Amino acid sequence: MDITTLSVFENRCLVNGQWLSADENLQVLNPLDNSVITTVPVLDESIIKQALVDAEIAQKQWKNVAVNERSRLLRNWFDLLMQHQDELATIMTVEQGKPFKEAKGEIAYAASYIEWFSEEAKRGYGDIIPSSASSEILVFKEAVGVCAAITPWNFPAAMITRKVAPALAAGCSILVKPASETPLTALAIAKLAEKAGFPAGIFNVITGSSAKIGKIFTESPIIKKLSFTGSTEIGAKLMAQSAPTVKKMSLELGGNAPVLVFKSADLDQAVQGVMDTKFRNAGQTCVCANRIYVQSEIYEAFVEKLKVKVEQLQMGNGLDASTDIGPLINRKAVLKVEEHIQDALSKGASLVTGKTTQNEDNWCVPTVVKDVTQEMLCAKEETFGPFAPIFKFSSEEQAISMSNDTEFGLASYVFTQDINQFIRVSRGLEYGMVGVNTGLISNAAAPFGGVKSSGIGREGSKYGMDEYLEMKYVCLGNVS
Ligand code: SIN
Repeated sequence: MDITTLSVFENRCLVNGQWLSADENLQVLNPLDNSVITTVPVLDESIIKQALVDAEIAQKQWKNVAVNERSRLLRNWFDLLMQHQDELATIMTVEQGKPFKEAKGEIAYAASYIEWFSEEAKRGYGDIIPSSASSEILVFKEAVGVCAAITPWNFPAAMITRKVAPALAAGCSILVKPASETPLTALAIAKLAEKAGFPAGIFNVITGSSAKIGKIFTESPIIKKLSFTGSTEIGAKLMAQSAPTVKKMSLELGGNAPVLVFKSADLDQAVQGVMDTKFRNAGQTCVCANRIYVQSEIYEAFVEKLKVKVEQLQMGNGLDASTDIGPLINRKAVLKVEEHIQDALSKGASLVTGKTTQNEDNWCVPTVVKDVTQEMLCAKEETFGPFAPIFKFSSEEQAISMSNDTEFGLASYVFTQDINQFIRVSRGLEYGMVGVNTGLISNAAAPFGGVKSSGIGREGSKYGMDEYLEMKYVCLGNVS
C-alpha cells in the first residue's frame, strides 16, 4: 500500500504555519517487513528554538481568542478527522502495524478528545470564594502558556489529541514531538488542524532526535508545561531535566496492570474482558493486562476458555480485514516478550498455547502460560506484547496484595458479580484506574492516569483541562 498518495499524507514538519523539510532525515519503517515508507526531517536546533519563540508570540493572541471561536475550530478539526478516518487509519496501520479496524477505532477515539475539549473550552470556570475579611476572593483560570508534548508510537493519534485538544481549548499553544516510529499519523493530523483554521504557531509538529528535542523542550523557560507518555525511565529523566525551569508536568508512564478474576465472576465475561485488555494493539498498551490473577476454584476452567479464544486470533497484515494481531513495532519489542515467556517457563510455568521460541522478525505469536508466580519477570516488568501469564490466588486479600506488589499503578481490572467485593477491591487496589467487569476503560470523558511510578496528572475529562490552566487568585479588597 502506497500511503504517499493519500490526501492527508505529509512528511514535512508543521512549524509556525510553515511546512518544513531538512537536509538530514529519519527513515520511517513499515513494521510488517521493515521496508522504508518515507523519511521525515531532523530539524535543526536553531529552527526548533525559533519555533518556541514563535509559539510564544502566537499564544499571546490565542489566549484572547473568544472561547466560542476556539471551540468552533476544535469542532472543525474533529469533523475533519472523522471525514478522513479511513485515510488516517491506513497511514497508522502502515507505520504502526495495528489492524486497520483498530486503527479506525483509534482515529474515532482520538477525535473524541477533540470533540470533548471543543465543549470544555467553554467551561474554564473560575471561583468566587466567601471570605471572612472585608474582601472578595476571586479565582481566575488562565492558560498555562506554551506547552510541549512528547508522544508514543503505540497510539500515534489519540495520545496527541488528548494533549493538544485541551491545550488549545485552554488557550495554550503546543509543540508536539511524535515518536520517531510513527510521525506520519501526527503529520496527517496536523495537516487537518491547519485545514480546520487554527492560526500559525498554535499547533506545531517537530520531528528529529527524541533526546535532543526533549532536551530543548525541558531546558527552555518558554515551555511552561510538558506532557509525556512513555516509559517511567524517560519520564523521570524529563522531570529531572525540567526541574531548573520549574514546569508543570503530566506524565503517563509504565503500567503493570493486574486482572483479578474472582470465583463469583461471569466466566465468559471475564475471558472476553481479558481478551480485550490483553490483545488490544497486540498487547502494546500501557493499560494492557500484564498479570492475570484467577481464583483457584475457577482456575482451570478459565485457562481452558482463554486458550480457545487466543487460538482463534488471526495474525497478519493489519490491512487485511481478518487480522486481529499485526506485527509488533520492532524486533526489540519481540525479544522482550520472548524474554518474559522464556523466564516464566524456565522458572516452572507451563505453556497453555503459543510459540515459545524464535518468533521471527517483528512477529510474536499470542502466548498463554499458567502457574505463573510473583518471582517471574512478567510479574515485575511491563511485557508490552501478546503474552498472557496466568497466576493463581486463593483469597481476596492475597489477590489485592499480589496486585499491589509493584512500583506501578496505572490500570487494573476486576471481574466479580459480588457488589461488596467490587467496592472493597476497587478501594484496595493502588491504581489510578479500575475496570470492573470490563477490559475497556478508555474514554475521553474519564480521567486517565496513574499513581506511583505510573505518573502524575490526568488526561481526558474535565480534569484534563485543568492540566493546561493556572489558577490566579485575585483579592478584591475593601468590599463594603
Ligand atoms: C496507552 O497505552 O498509553 C493509552 C491507552 C488508552 O488510552 O487506552
